Amino acid sequence: MIVYEQESRTFTLHTKNTTYQMKADRHSVLLHTYYGARVQGDDLSYRIGYADRGASPNPPEAGHDRTYSLDTLPQEYSTCGVGDFRLPSIELELPSGSRSADLRYTGYEIREGKYALEGLPAFHGGSEWETLVVFLTDAAAQVTVELYYGVLAEQDLITRAVRVVNRGAEAVRLCQCASLCLDLSRGGLDLVTFNGAHTKERSPARTHMAPGVQSVGSVRGTSSHQHNPFVILCEQDAGEDHGDCWGAMLLYSGNFQAAAEESPFEITRLVMGIHPYHFTWTLAPGESFTAPEAAMVFSGEGFGEMSRRFHRAIQAHLIRDPYQWERRPVLINNWEATLFDFNAEKLLDIARAAAPLGIELFVMDDGWFGARDSDYAGLGDWVVNEKKLPGGLTALCKELTALGMKFGIWIEPEMINEDSDLYRAHPDWAMRIPGRDPARCRSQLALDFSRQEVRDHVYSQIKAVLSSAPVSYVKWDMNRSITDVWSAALPAERQGEVYHRYVLGIYEMLDRMLSDFPGLFIEGCTGGGGRFDGGMLYYTPQIWCSDNTDAIDRLRIQYGTSFCYPPSTMGAHVSAVPNADTDRSTPLETRGVVAMSGTFGYEMDLSKTTPEERAVMKRQVEDYKALAHLVQRGDYYRLTDPFANGPYTAWAHVSPDRREALVSLVFGTAHSAAPFRSLRLKGLDPDLRYRVNGQDSYAGSVLLHAGYPLPIPRGDYQSLQLHLVAE
Ligand code: DGJ
Repeated sequence: MIVYEQESRTFTLHTKNTTYQMKADRHSVLLHTYYGARVQGDDLSYRIGYADRGASPNPPEAGHDRTYSLDTLPQEYSTCGVGDFRLPSIELELPSGSRSADLRYTGYEIREGKYALEGLPAFHGGSEWETLVVFLTDAAAQVTVELYYGVLAEQDLITRAVRVVNRGAEAVRLCQCASLCLDLSRGGLDLVTFNGAHTKERSPARTHMAPGVQSVGSVRGTSSHQHNPFVILCEQDAGEDHGDCWGAMLLYSGNFQAAAEESPFEITRLVMGIHPYHFTWTLAPGESFTAPEAAMVFSGEGFGEMSRRFHRAIQAHLIRDPYQWERRPVLINNWEATLFDFNAEKLLDIARAAAPLGIELFVMDDGWFGARDSDYAGLGDWVVNEKKLPGGLTALCKELTALGMKFGIWIEPEMINEDSDLYRAHPDWAMRIPGRDPARCRSQLALDFSRQEVRDHVYSQIKAVLSSAPVSYVKWDMNRSITDVWSAALPAERQGEVYHRYVLGIYEMLDRMLSDFPGLFIEGCTGGGGRFDGGMLYYTPQIWCSDNTDAIDRLRIQYGTSFCYPPSTMGAHVSAVPNADTDRSTPLETRGVVAMSGTFGYEMDLSKTTPEERAVMKRQVEDYKALAHLVQRGDYYRLTDPFANGPYTAWAHVSPDRREALVSLVFGTAHSAAPFRSLRLKGLDPDLRYRVNGQDSYAGSVLLHAGYPLPIPRGDYQSLQLHLVAE
C-alpha cells in the first residue's frame, strides 16, 4: 500500500511486514525517514536531528540556518558538489564542465501495477504491485530525475529504478546514476557481502562498518565471480533467526558497485548501481537514461526470513512463465565426461545410459561447432561440425527423440577466438583499444556486443542452428572478463557508454531469442557462476552455480548463493569422483543430496558407471521428481553454516503449508568416539505430527526443539535426506 500525506508531504510504502518512508521537507529536499518493521504511517521525520555541524555547508534556501545541511541529513537519492560529501547517487557534468547535482522534489504519481523498464530486466506481475514515481528536478542543470518504487506487499519486496531526463537545450553528461540509495538513520551496522573467485563463488563476508566507505563491485564487464550484486546491512548481533537486516540486490549483469558509508552522526548510506568506473552517458536534449532495477527486503527476524522473502518474490515475479512453477527437466551434460573430445556416437552412448535412469534432457556442451577441438579455436563460428556430428543436429536429435530425451545445446555468443572464420573476416569486431593488443582470457577475445551489426551476425547464425532441430534448452556461457573496452561504433566522448551498451546488447539478444523461440529454456552460465545475478535470472530461470562440482565445496557455494537467490535458480549436478577440481571422493548418495538442492542433473560419463551406481542414480532421479516441488516452491531454511566447520551441514525445504518438508544433511569427516547428536529443524508446524521417511513419527514441536536423532556416520562425507509428511 502506498500512502501520500499531503500535509506532511510524506510517502509511506507499506508491505505486509515492513514500512518504508520518505518526505519532501520544507526546502523540497527528499529525505529518507524510515525503513523497517511495519509501523503506522505517521510522519517519522521526528527521527531526523538538526544541529550546527562544523564544516557542513548550508544550501541557499536555508539562508543562515546553520543547522540545515545536505551533509548531515538522510537523503532519499544523494547528490554531489553542493553540500553532501558522502556517497553520491548521481553526478552530472554540465556543458560548463562543472560536476554536480542538486535535486528538489516537484511531484509524484501513484499507479496500480508495476512500472516496466524498456530493454532492462525487471520484476514483473500485475495487480499485486503498486508503483510510486517521485519527480525531482535539478533546476540549474535542467534535468529531471524520476525515482520509481514498485511495492510487492505480499512478499515484502520493494523495487527501485531511476530515470534521468535532459530537459535542457544542451547535452548533459551523466557520470554516475545509482539505482538505489538507502540512507538509514542507524549506526553500528554490519555489512555482509558475497565474494570469491571462479570455482569459489559467493562466500559471505561480514564486516562491522568503520569510518569511511566500504564497498564491493566489479569492473570486469560481468557482475563477476569475485563479488555479487547483492549485499546486506544488518544489526551487529543479527543472525539467521533474529535481528534487523536490509538486503539489496541489483538486477544487472555488468559492472556494479555497492558501497556503504556510515556518517559521523550514525547515518548509514548504501548506494548501489552501475559502477562509476569508465561510465559516462551523454544525454542530448530530450534524451533519457534508465538505471537498472534494484530490489530491497527488510526483515526484523534475521537473514533466514530475509532470504525467504527474496526467494518468494524472485520465484513468482522474476522467473518467467512457465518455469516459475513447472519442474525443471533432469539433465545430463557431457562436459565433464568428454570435454571437447566427442562425436555423435560418444554422446549417444551417454544418452543411452541416461534414458533408462529417467533423465529427460541431453545437453551437448562446448565443442560441437566450427573448428572447436580445444579452447584455442572456433568461437564465433556457430556452424555444426559435421565431422563430429554427421547429419548435423537433425540426426542427433532423431536418436535422442527415439530414446525419449529432449535436446539442449551450449553456446557462447559473446566470444571470438582469433583462430576462427569470424575473426579472419572481422578482426575489428573483437573488443580492443586502438594502438593496444588486447588481453586474452581463456585464449579468447570478447566481441563488441555494444554493436548491433555484431549481434545481428552472431544471432542469425545461432538462430539457424536453433531452427534446425527441436532444441528445448540452451546453455548460454561466457568465459572471460572484459578488458580493452572501446567500440569502433562510438565517438571518443561516448566511450564511457560501451560497458553498459554491451550489457544492454546481451539483454537484447536474450529477448530476441526468447521471442523467436517461445518456451525455450535458457540456463545462464559464466564460467560457472560469474554472472549469477537478478538481471540474468529474468531471462535464464536457472544459472550454472559454479564450475566446481565437488559436493563438499558446493555446500558452501550453494549456502552463500541462497542468501538472495532461491534453490530453483541454482544449476547443480552430480559429477564423477575423484572430483576434477579437488581430487576428493564423496559418496554418490551425498553428491545426489547436494545436487538435489538445486536444479538437478548429472555431468559424467554414465556409460562407464556400474550397475550398482546406476541403481542409485535411478532412485535419485525418481526421488528428485517426487520432491522437486519442495525444492522449487518450498521455504528454504539454512540449519547450519558450512563455513563454521561444524560436524555437518544441514538445510531444509518446507512446503508453504508446512505439511511437508525435505531435510538434507551432509556430515564432514568421520571420527571415532563421536557423540550422539540431534538436528533441530525449522519452519515446521509445532502442532502437527510428521512421519519421517515413511517410518517413525515425531511431533513438530519435538523436531523443532528437541531435534531429530542423527546416526553416527561411518566414513567421510555421509549424508541423510529426510522426507517429512504431516499425518
Ligand atoms: C564453462 C562452463 O561453466 C562449463 O560448464 C562448460 O560449459 C565450459 N565453460 C565449456 O567451455
